[in-house]
Amino acid sequence: MAFPKDFLWGGAVAGNQYEGGYQSGGRGLATLDAVTGGGYKKPRMMTYRTKEGELGEAPIDSSMTGQIPEGATGYIKPDTFYPSHMATDLYHHYKEDIALFAQMGFKCFRMSISWSRICPKGMYEVNEEGLAFYDRVFDELLRYGIQPVVTIDHFDMPLYLADHYDGWSSREVIDFFVFYAGMVFKRYKDKVRYWMTFNEINVLSGWCQIGIHRNDPQTLYQAHHHIFVASARAVELGHQINPDFTIGMMAAVIPSYPMTCRPEDVMESIRFNRSREFYMDVQVKGYYPAYQLKAFERTGVRIAMEPGDLEIIRKGTVDFIGFSYYMSTVSTTDPDAEKTEGNQFIAFKNPHLATSDWGWTVDPMGLRIAMSQIYDRYHVPLFVVENGLGAADTINEDGQIDDGYRIAYLRDHIKAMKEAVELDGVELMGYTPWGCIDIVSAGTGEMKKRYGFIYVERYDDGTGDFSRRKKKSFDWYKRVIASNGEDLG
Ligand code: BG6
Repeated sequence: MAFPKDFLWGGAVAGNQYEGGYQSGGRGLATLDAVTGGGYKKPRMMTYRTKEGELGEAPIDSSMTGQIPEGATGYIKPDTFYPSHMATDLYHHYKEDIALFAQMGFKCFRMSISWSRICPKGMYEVNEEGLAFYDRVFDELLRYGIQPVVTIDHFDMPLYLADHYDGWSSREVIDFFVFYAGMVFKRYKDKVRYWMTFNEINVLSGWCQIGIHRNDPQTLYQAHHHIFVASARAVELGHQINPDFTIGMMAAVIPSYPMTCRPEDVMESIRFNRSREFYMDVQVKGYYPAYQLKAFERTGVRIAMEPGDLEIIRKGTVDFIGFSYYMSTVSTTDPDAEKTEGNQFIAFKNPHLATSDWGWTVDPMGLRIAMSQIYDRYHVPLFVVENGLGAADTINEDGQIDDGYRIAYLRDHIKAMKEAVELDGVELMGYTPWGCIDIVSAGTGEMKKRYGFIYVERYDDGTGDFSRRKKKSFDWYKRVIASNGEDLG
């Protein structure tokens, strides 16, 4: 068998895309609660606001954790559909959903905790009801022998911190985050073993994700320095609280190939890949790599550091690399090369590969390539914590959802993972396909773009009764797990 006996098969989701209950149980607001569904080719994650309230929006008082008053204007407008508010409602369906995951044979389930559910303003005030909610979810998972794999921050910024601290551009936010991380580490120390600090740390930017109101390189890299320090401190703290914790980083892996063998294209692909690997270098190797320091020098970026920061980063390296893989891209210096959509960026089109309905390049072999390169470079275990096909599923007249295209996509990617393990010797901890139950798309805010093995009756116009039904891929994935990846159908 290619995969080890204790291989962590499962599925993955994120709070802002799945959880709902945005005002229930004392939860505070997060930036994404104020972001409407953008739609195809409308980059929702880039939603940008100035401190002056660009878009004509004056912020409501985000310290509020209760009901938004009727007629409130500002970030959250009445009569407007905000996908995260109910998302696909884990809040009220967790028992039903976890029973379905158990039926598929999940060994683990990747989810995130909502920071503002634990600390409504993101600061030191703690919401016991929020902590108790995740206790219930973790207990239910453990009842079925499903290990929670928890992302502490998945595109999650308490709105209060965005408003009052300009998000991660403020150094104070490090202490707030470490407090929050410590809180959840202590509370769940006997329930959760696998953790990741920040989702896709290597693409985080802007107001939605990190609460900053300017996206210039100086602000962005300073914010990332704070995030690095916060993550490293959290890793160290977690290991003190429970030495058995396995704490990883999480990166968006999008390997880039040179468009041609022109050295300029090759250099451009090195540049693109470094812009992503930089974050792994810091969090796995524990230092700022030379190429990045040179890039800072060239572009005039000056990172303000406090004494001890580099030592914190050196000591707080992670135990594994969790990563998402959806697509590869190509690099070229040719400005006229054809472009296509990508995961939070516009990619160049690879003439040899097909694209999904949302324009993302489909490249299973790219997963093997990426795994081999990452493992060779860092020598730590890998965990594929996101992979999947966003597609517009439809319910047939007989009530079935025939998502053979999803099965084909996942099968090809599992084969590629197997080759990376069997042929290249990569150490792989597990595989959690993305959006294992339908959730809101992060990039577009749509429900139409679905990834799940389980369909949720929820639609982009805000209708739907949230009922769940199995897609064809449900039984297929169950067989994959039961055979530890040998029966790919
Ligand atoms: C990753 C994110 O970038 O891609 C997820 O970690 C996201 O939150 C996933 O949902 C797929 O992207 P999208 O835009 O199709 O939801």
